[in-house]
Amino acid sequence: MLHRPRRNRKSAVIRDMIQEHHLSAANLIFPLFIIEGQNQKTEVSSMPGIYRHSIDHLLREVESCMKLGLYAFDLFPNIDDSLKDKYATLSYKKGNLYLRAIEEVKKNFPEACIVTDVAMDPYSSDGHDGIVENGVILNDETLAVLGKMALAHAEAGADIIAPSDMMDGRIGYIRQLLDENGFSHVSLMSYTAKYASAFYGPFRDALNSAPKAGDKKTYQMNPANSREALIEAQLDAEEGADFLMVKPGLPYLDIIKLLHDNFDLPIAAYNVSGEYAMLKAAIRNGWLDEERAIMETLMSFRRAGATSILTYHAKEVLEKKWL
Ligand code: PBG
Repeated sequence: MLHRPRRNRKSAVIRDMIQEHHLSAANLIFPLFIIEGQNQKTEVSSMPGIYRHSIDHLLREVESCMKLGLYAFDLFPNIDDSLKDKYATLSYKKGNLYLRAIEEVKKNFPEACIVTDVAMDPYSSDGHDGIVENGVILNDETLAVLGKMALAHAEAGADIIAPSDMMDGRIGYIRQLLDENGFSHVSLMSYTAKYASAFYGPFRDALNSAPKAGDKKTYQMNPANSREALIEAQLDAEEGADFLMVKPGLPYLDIIKLLHDNFDLPIAAYNVSGEYAMLKAAIRNGWLDEERAIMETLMSFRRAGATSILTYHAKEVLEKKWL
């Protein structure tokens, strides 16, 4: 036998020497849930170890993450039903929970990188990412709301704005609005290929943001499609996106690879709430080894071509010194 691939696996030194992909804290973005109040920290029942934080707790959480070398955070608000309306007007209202959170974090920790989520669902009484009229999601009317949200986030100090709504044309619309208002330095991370997935369930529990009627299939993508992701990516690239995101992560590794192979923009993968819940449930039952299962999962995103990984595991992998 001339070829014996096992020679390159014979010792830890050689295995490390030929390792193709690596994972570091710089690759991780930590999603954080926020709630109104003081000294509040409530666990999301379907996501053990993940909490909704009031702003004072959020600041402590950000600080402890930064001590571990984790500097990038994506914020999501839990809004009381009584404050929601059809047009998500709270989403851009001065002094709202979300804007206060961005301002407080940036004031206390200017070096933290804050990613903000632009979509109507946490604030919409319909629980949809866009305006609903007679059961139809209105695209162009929604852009105006998304634009106001994005501007408010930029004014509050967002470093990266991440539209997660899947309306057509929103990247170009938001890019232009930001540029016209003196925010040409604010980045856009587009949820480029966001699928209508079952794996968002625990997130919707965390935020109480599930649709009141219908589903998200007229705007989020069909899980059976991959070529459609190329159309979305082409548009986002033309419209000025700085990052292309694929979401969920694990069931869509092929899409991450597809975008990585066809576009030069950095690719982000969103290892979503349901993926976290799934692993934690198996780990809790003693069916999977925690460290190995989590690290193998995160490495799969790097192998597929993702530069950034939005993951609820971000803090624990550093805390437990697995990286
Ligand atoms: C909504 C949004 C969702 C997630 C991020 N932004 C859920 C949805 O589209 O219903 C899901 C994140 C996760 O499951 O971890 N704009």
